[in-house]
Amino acid sequence: MTVTVVVPTFNEGPNVAELVRRLAAALPAGSDVLFVDDSLDDTPDIIRSVAARATLPVRLLHRAEATGGLSGAVVAGIESARAAGAEWVVVMDGDLQHPPELVPALVERGVTDGADVVVASRYTGAGDAGGLDGWRRKLVSKASGLLARSMFPVRLRNVTDPMTGFFALRADRVDPTTLQPRGFKILLEILARTKLVVVEEAFVFAERFAGESKASFANGVRYVQQLWNLRFGRLSPFAVIGALGALLNLAILAGLQAAGMHYLPAVIASNGLTIITNFLLQERFVFRDLRGTTSSARRFAQSFAFNGSEAVVRTLLLWWIVERAVPYPELVQAVLIFVAFLVRFVFHAQVVYRVRRTVPEATLAQGIDVQGLEAPDVDARDLGTRAAG
Ligand code: GDD
Ligand code: MN
Repeated sequence: MTVTVVVPTFNEGPNVAELVRRLAAALPAGSDVLFVDDSLDDTPDIIRSVAARATLPVRLLHRAEATGGLSGAVVAGIESARAAGAEWVVVMDGDLQHPPELVPALVERGVTDGADVVVASRYTGAGDAGGLDGWRRKLVSKASGLLARSMFPVRLRNVTDPMTGFFALRADRVDPTTLQPRGFKILLEILARTKLVVVEEAFVFAERFAGESKASFANGVRYVQQLWNLRFGRLSPFAVIGALGALLNLAILAGLQAAGMHYLPAVIASNGLTIITNFLLQERFVFRDLRGTTSSARRFAQSFAFNGSEAVVRTLLLWWIVERAVPYPELVQAVLIFVAFLVRFVFHAQVVYRVRRTVPEATLAQGIDVQGLEAPDVDARDLGTRAAG
């Protein structure tokens, strides 16, 4: 088995020697390390001198232009590893937040389970996001992962951590030319664009060995652009229907008020009506392929219960805000409807039209207890990836 560990680096000099030392101790013979470096400092020199002393082959790909940032570097690394004949590529950060000792286990897991991708997850089993500094980063990581999973419920059905930067993949199973790397979330790009067999291994995200995180607000913006680029999957028809529903809601609200009704009963009436029209349209146009598992009465009950209570909360909020601060019911209602929209989408994708997890055929064959899990349905389509082709 030939394994290439691809390590993207941007000004990570003080971490290189320690990373290579731990990798060399952990990796089986036949493995090598490929640094894909965009550094502006002396990191390339450090990599070269560490490579000269290392007990395993260490290569350096220094890019003249940092096209695509971290994701672009990873794709360049995958391309280079494929060209050099690697069967497996393991992508990991260069700051030791990803334990090098786990690399062999990731590849072994992929081989025994016949998986294309093994995701090292902070959010499964004994995994932990401990090294992510601050509750804000943890919250953003969790929330952005949840949003991605809601947008790609089938492709990400077995992935609890689509934001991770630590994963192993079978080199011949991804076509780097289909990817549009940008920002930090290369795994999401790979998983959303290709139908792959994915399994997960838990890991504990450690503290950085040295230096500081390169994550920035701009990366957050790029993540949103990336999601948009993956064409917003299911979210876009959901959004169109939500927008139509919101317009209908506002029209009814304005009409009833013009007819002399107080704004509160008018809001209740417009909310009730649009809950029903939204459900009918979403059932038909957004989640049609995911209806199979439950009865439509049950889905309507769940949807109505959620939207109803959400509408009650929203109406109370509206009343509170209109009376206290902003005396424009239509404006406040418009803002509240928009905020409620994302929450509603996540609820519908995660609860009403939930997609069950699956396991690879090879795992089933091992006779492992997989109660409650379904065998992979080869024809599972994910409308969220129509853009992929
Ligand atoms: N070549 C290259 N080019 N490498 C880069 C660039 C770039 O533009 N930007 C960052 N890197 C390298 C860093 O040097 C490091 O080795 C790795 O990518 C991760 O960057 P960090 O700065 O350590 O990011 P982080 O720890 O905040 O984020 C990590 O964890 C996230 C999960 O919360 C990354 O693995 C993210 O991909 C991951 O989503
Ligand atoms: Mn890091």
